[in-house]
Amino acid sequence: MCGIVGYIGQRNAFDIIIKGLKRLEYRGYDSAGIALINNEGKLNVYKTKGKVSELENHTIDKDISGNIGIAHTRWATHGEPCTVNAHPHFSFSESLALVHNGIIENYATLKENLQSKGYIFKSSTDTEVLIQFIGHIMESNDIDLLTATQLALQEVVGAYAIAVLEKNNPNTIIAARKSSPLVVGIGENEFFLASDATPIVEYTDKVVYLKDEEIVAINREKDIKIVNLYNVETTPEIKQITLNLGQIEKGGYPHFMLKEIFEQPGCIYDCMRGRINMEADNVVLSAVIDYKERLLNAKRFVIVACGTSWHAGLIGKQLIEMLCRIPVEVEYASEFRYRDPVINSDDVVIAISQSGETADTLAAIELAKSKGAFIYGICNAVGSSIPRATHTGSYIHVGPEIGVASTKAFTGQVTVLTMLALTLGKANNTIKEETYLSIVKELNNIPEKMKKVLELNNQIIELSRMFTYAHNFIYLGRGFSYPVALEGALKLKEISYIHAEGYPAAEMKHGPIALIDAEMPVVVIATKNALYDKVLSNIQEIKARNGRVIAIITEGDKILSNIADFCIELPDTIDCLEPLVATVPLQLLAYHIAVCKGMNVDQPRNLAKSVTVE
Ligand code: AGP
Repeated sequence: MCGIVGYIGQRNAFDIIIKGLKRLEYRGYDSAGIALINNEGKLNVYKTKGKVSELENHTIDKDISGNIGIAHTRWATHGEPCTVNAHPHFSFSESLALVHNGIIENYATLKENLQSKGYIFKSSTDTEVLIQFIGHIMESNDIDLLTATQLALQEVVGAYAIAVLEKNNPNTIIAARKSSPLVVGIGENEFFLASDATPIVEYTDKVVYLKDEEIVAINREKDIKIVNLYNVETTPEIKQITLNLGQIEKGGYPHFMLKEIFEQPGCIYDCMRGRINMEADNVVLSAVIDYKERLLNAKRFVIVACGTSWHAGLIGKQLIEMLCRIPVEVEYASEFRYRDPVINSDDVVIAISQSGETADTLAAIELAKSKGAFIYGICNAVGSSIPRATHTGSYIHVGPEIGVASTKAFTGQVTVLTMLALTLGKANNTIKEETYLSIVKELNNIPEKMKKVLELNNQIIELSRMFTYAHNFIYLGRGFSYPVALEGALKLKEISYIHAEGYPAAEMKHGPIALIDAEMPVVVIATKNALYDKVLSNIQEIKARNGRVIAIITEGDKILSNIADFCIELPDTIDCLEPLVATVPLQLLAYHIAVCKGMNVDQPRNLAKSVTVE
């Protein structure tokens, strides 16, 4: 996600700000920029694609003087990563410069309105619309920047953390937030601004955490002033930072992986934002609208991916076949690329990748393209190689995933695949209206249901202590939960180094049941769905052989509560959305077992976050 840093005081702003941007590098980004007002009152803006070091190189021979500035590292949401789209953005008159973290959902309407008044835009970002809107209000009403910002933000729909500089007022930074965090550091005759406390903690431990819809005026000669959008002033609540730098980067969590597991409700909400309407009765994926004919005329979908993304593909297969009645094959990209597959021009290949840089998946795309297929990408990293190699696609918008073991990206991929199947099914008239409405409505409830599952964290910590020394695990599921079993097994083995296998539950009697004994924990996803009775029988077969069963069940299931050795109770949901809820306890189980074993959870041995080589 994006990062913001600001400084106003007696010292050189550039050095402090650049160091602060580097503190935010862990958040992931694709471009960076800085705005400074020098001692002659000139507003200088410098921006580059790439790392903060690129920005430093770019400014070597530039005027970087001044003791007031704001800066930004961008994680692209609207508009490709490039210098033009990087922040800060100027207002039309170039008297204002703004940096922004968040998404302005009604930017298109605001932009049309400004264009009708003659405003011209340089970038394709929602951020430039915001600063042009503030500038328009300020200049057309001849009011100050604070008031203009209040009036503009009253019209804005979406999430924002912003900081604004005004060329003619080098003593003040205006900043505001809604849904995206912003912290003010209180120093000795100097102030700091940042998306979190990491750039601030080395200068001061006194901070003010802005609340939603608060605007702060930071003036070097006065104390900070905090007002809301309607100019009601509040007294700043000064807090003391107790966390160290490493803890702040992880949001107070011990590992990025745990932070990302707990981020999932918000991430899935972000993934659906702007794609499911407020009434929760319609889904729109813009890529599907743009290429509807090509997608609907597909004779077949072929999903290519690796690892966790391949597991998401297995769920996508069931969703698309169920809702669109178009056949789907799921291929390991590494196998697909070397077996000279039969691919025709009426095939659609869906490439799924968190990093957007996985070599095997990229190669599979190029092979499919060479055979005439249409390629649809589902990625997280905006502007990475795979989105650039595909004909179209959908970003999952879950923010940078730092932990090597994929968690929020998996549930984000499954969410986009669900929305893809719904959009195509509706366009194809292969899905009943009431089925469509029930899935869309329940999809909207998923973030709250995920939050309920996360409340089981302490129970799962206790459970993980009992299995820290297991040498093997089996994970079982049927239907939509079979890929969840595979994903749960992968999570456990890649961070705890315990061997774990995922199987379709019915497959046990074809050999694996020979493995069952009191030493072999068996995790079974046994929630109330169409295959519940079958899974119940499988659990009884395992219990008859002294197997130890950890059952993932629907809350209130008295039958399995009396049969399984351990139960994790989940809120009920509809079958096809089960993976979004049932995966979370398996992520937590793997995480806590690995922590109990003292493993390096965020960087497991032998693994890389992005496998850019064969
Ligand atoms: C999953 O936890 C692993 N990190 C790994 O299997 C990963 O899913 C795989 O390497 C694919 O990566 P991608 O989604 O970035 O293409």
